[in-house]
Amino acid sequence: MGHKIQGVSEMEHTPNADKEHRLIALEKENEVLKKEVHALRKEVQEYYNFAKSLAKTIESKDGYLRSRLDLMVLQALELGRAIELPESDLLILKKAVLFRDLGKIKVPDSILNKPGKLTEEESKIMKQHPQFSVEILAELKGEPIDKLIEGIEGHHERVDGKGYPHGKTGRELSPIAKITAIMDFWNAIVSDRPYRKPIPLPEALNLVKVVAGSHLDADLVRIFIEKKIYAFSETSPDSISSSG
Ligand SMILES: [Fe+2]
Repeated sequence: MGHKIQGVSEMEHTPNADKEHRLIALEKENEVLKKEVHALRKEVQEYYNFAKSLAKTIESKDGYLRSRLDLMVLQALELGRAIELPESDLLILKKAVLFRDLGKIKVPDSILNKPGKLTEEESKIMKQHPQFSVEILAELKGEPIDKLIEGIEGHHERVDGKGYPHGKTGRELSPIAKITAIMDFWNAIVSDRPYRKPIPLPEALNLVKVVAGSHLDADLVRIFIEKKIYAFSETSPDSISSSG
């Protein structure tokens, strides 16, 4: 009996038994980590869904009669792929398009939906919305936030430097910002608003061609038109796994 106990005790201290114990401990730790990663992913997804729902609410507050956010994301990603943006940048581009106008929540409706020209003071408030969006998203973690900030802040910048909020030129603007600006511009002219009918497609195409090189990046506009990215619809067979 005593001999047997001695044997077990000896076994526990052999190098193999130690390795086995360490392996079991590592497996347990791995399981715990997997659960933590799963919980974190779920939390990030919930934040994302919440922000997306908020973005759609702001879109309607802004007078859009139908949400076009999903379509804009599809078009942006197609344009991003056409210039071979890495997958990590495509993810940021998606967020830049979705969340670019979150800051409009801080702009009064009387300014957002004013049919006529804004006063100087009203315009000053309106032009702060990209930075308000950045402030709202400043708490986002887990991604290269600088690129997202650039994208969001740049969605009303122009390649000729006459945009806002910083008056950056084409050289200073990232591809994410330039694509987001095209999406914003295109969406604004082809959307149905309570106080303005959408511009018909041929005229809208002419308009983006006219502003290519001054307002919008000329190369990206050319691709947008040549590849008929503007003609995408929500039911496009190429529907990219853009949601979530
Ligand atoms: Fe905007």
